[in-house]
Amino acid sequence: MLDYQRRGSVPAKHHITHRRPDGAGVYYEECFTRQGFDGAFSILYHAFATTDDTETVKSSRGWPAPVSVEPQDETVRRRLFDGNKIPVGGCMVDSRIAMLFCSDLVILLARPTQSDDVYFSNGDGDELVYVYGGKGRLESSFGWLPFQTGDYVWVPKGVIHRWHLEGEGHAFLVMEARKELRIPKQFRNASGQLRMDAPYCHRDFVRPEGAAWEPSMGESGPCTVVYKVRDRFSQRTMPHHPLDIVGWDGNVYPVAFPIGKYQPKTGLVHLPPTSHLTFAGEGFVVCSFVPRIVDFHPEAIPCPYPHTNVDCDEVLLYLDGNFTSRKGVGPGCMSLHPMGVPHGPHPGAYERSIGAQTTTELAVMIDTFAPLAITANALALETREYHDSWAPR
Ligand SMILES: [Fe+2]
Repeated sequence: MLDYQRRGSVPAKHHITHRRPDGAGVYYEECFTRQGFDGAFSILYHAFATTDDTETVKSSRGWPAPVSVEPQDETVRRRLFDGNKIPVGGCMVDSRIAMLFCSDLVILLARPTQSDDVYFSNGDGDELVYVYGGKGRLESSFGWLPFQTGDYVWVPKGVIHRWHLEGEGHAFLVMEARKELRIPKQFRNASGQLRMDAPYCHRDFVRPEGAAWEPSMGESGPCTVVYKVRDRFSQRTMPHHPLDIVGWDGNVYPVAFPIGKYQPKTGLVHLPPTSHLTFAGEGFVVCSFVPRIVDFHPEAIPCPYPHTNVDCDEVLLYLDGNFTSRKGVGPGCMSLHPMGVPHGPHPGAYERSIGAQTTTELAVMIDTFAPLAITANALALETREYHDSWAPR
């Protein structure tokens, strides 16, 4: 969670009366807390009771839970999946396709064409969504959050929301953390501020503004909220609008971070991928590779060195620019390099990079510390010859 924010009408202290201006009773407090009551929290004020569901049933909405289909006798190898071939259509709450997963993270792709027609909250974990096509607004209890191509959108666990799409060409990489996502602790000083040597600052983040519900809208019910817990989709019907918020404050709310605001580092010689760290979760990290000046030692080799990263599975979503270390890999492709299998630049790329001064590559990398299982969706999109594309010709 990022920093403290306050919107709308809140009383002078927590847990005291917040009277309606018309004198007809009080607003209802909702304490939205992480880590029990030890972590970050926000407090929201509802016009109507938060627990007055009239019906709770199994939902037909949502996306299939990830299932591994990799046979035990399958070779463990470098893989490439063409994300451009996933089905297009539907809305965000229904159209996500699980590609890879482990106990800490599910990696999904989505190419919806319609705005969500139902409210949704993910009770299984924080969502970090990288938008690599399209724009729109995220509607939530905390207000309206605009997003566009190149933004990470961080939707905390349990936040009721809808994705509103504007225009065409939407493409999303969804990282569903099974535990809390965080700003890496080394990016903060003792006061909780982002340090001056962090790769981004507080001003870089986009926060929700305005209100999704106004008192003039009244109850605006009944309304259905779909929710996911333990990969099971249920839905509850409320007699009123679910985003009936008159004010909130705290540190838990959705934010967007434009990848173009990421401040890359350059070294005398090639810096390890950790220098591209952007977000961290339990058991995984997310890194941003953005256009930058490369290493400046006169004999530097700017291309990534071959490496054997024995404790991580590495996923890269290629987005734009010239990927100096790979050939035959274009925007929208996703590679998986499993732990224990060496990898590095394609033949010739290492030598060709000598003398380069800049790179235009744009990519998002996810490293997991638990092995990733592969779904049938991913296998159907696999470029089978990828592993052998390093072989001498
Ligand atoms: Fe790597």
